[in-house]
Amino acid sequence: MKLQIRTCRLPDDLVILTEMLHRAYAELAARGWRYSATHQTPEVTERRVKAGHCFIAEMDERLAGTITVKRPNPKSTSATYREAATFMFGQFGVDPAFRGRGVGRALHEHAVQFALANGATAMALDTAVPATHLIELYAKWGYREVERCQWNDTNYESVIMKKDLKPAHAP
Ligand SMILES: CC(C)(COP(=O)(O)OP(=O)(O)OC[C@H]1O[C@@H](n2cnc3c(N)ncnc32)[C@H](O)[C@@H]1OP(=O)(O)O)[C@@H](O)C(=O)NCCC(=O)NCCS
Repeated sequence: MKLQIRTCRLPDDLVILTEMLHRAYAELAARGWRYSATHQTPEVTERRVKAGHCFIAEMDERLAGTITVKRPNPKSTSATYREAATFMFGQFGVDPAFRGRGVGRALHEHAVQFALANGATAMALDTAVPATHLIELYAKWGYREVERCQWNDTNYESVIMKKDLKPAHAP
């Protein structure tokens, strides 16, 4: 199967992207964690896409996964997300039909390259404290816990993880 990563197109992708996010995050909903992507409307997806740069992964031209990279947000309640050169990613999911084939890893790498090309020196993310399988995956990718917070719209405490980025040509 051929994997391609492209920028999300609005409004064309909105409905299928929202439906795919619900499928991808269903396993987290089943464990009682109310991530926004478990239930968000297309309008919320649109707002989240527009808040950053959203990439779509396609396998043989079928929507297989997504990730959104965001620049620092000076108004964030998280000190990490306010840092001048720390980008973050979210709305990250792969359709269960395409799992375990490197789509998630490729999307993450794409997000990192986008951040580096736009001046980032670090990347961050947040997830649910009890989602230990995700915390372990991100730790494997080099992220470390730097902060904890409680968002208004989630029913769990979040951990913020961060890693320093090095340009490909750096020693
Ligand atoms: C997390 C997620 C995006 C990974 O997508 P994916 O395409 O299956 O991931 P990949 O095939 O690229 O594999 C990524 C890593 O996970 C590991 N992995 C994949 N499937 C696995 C499984 N069933 N069990 C354990 N590890 C697994 C791989 O070994 C790989 O490790 P590596 O990067 O060291 O090679 C996907 O599982 C998902 O959408 N989960 C539900 C939504 C979610 O949790 N989003 C993140 C919220 S913070």
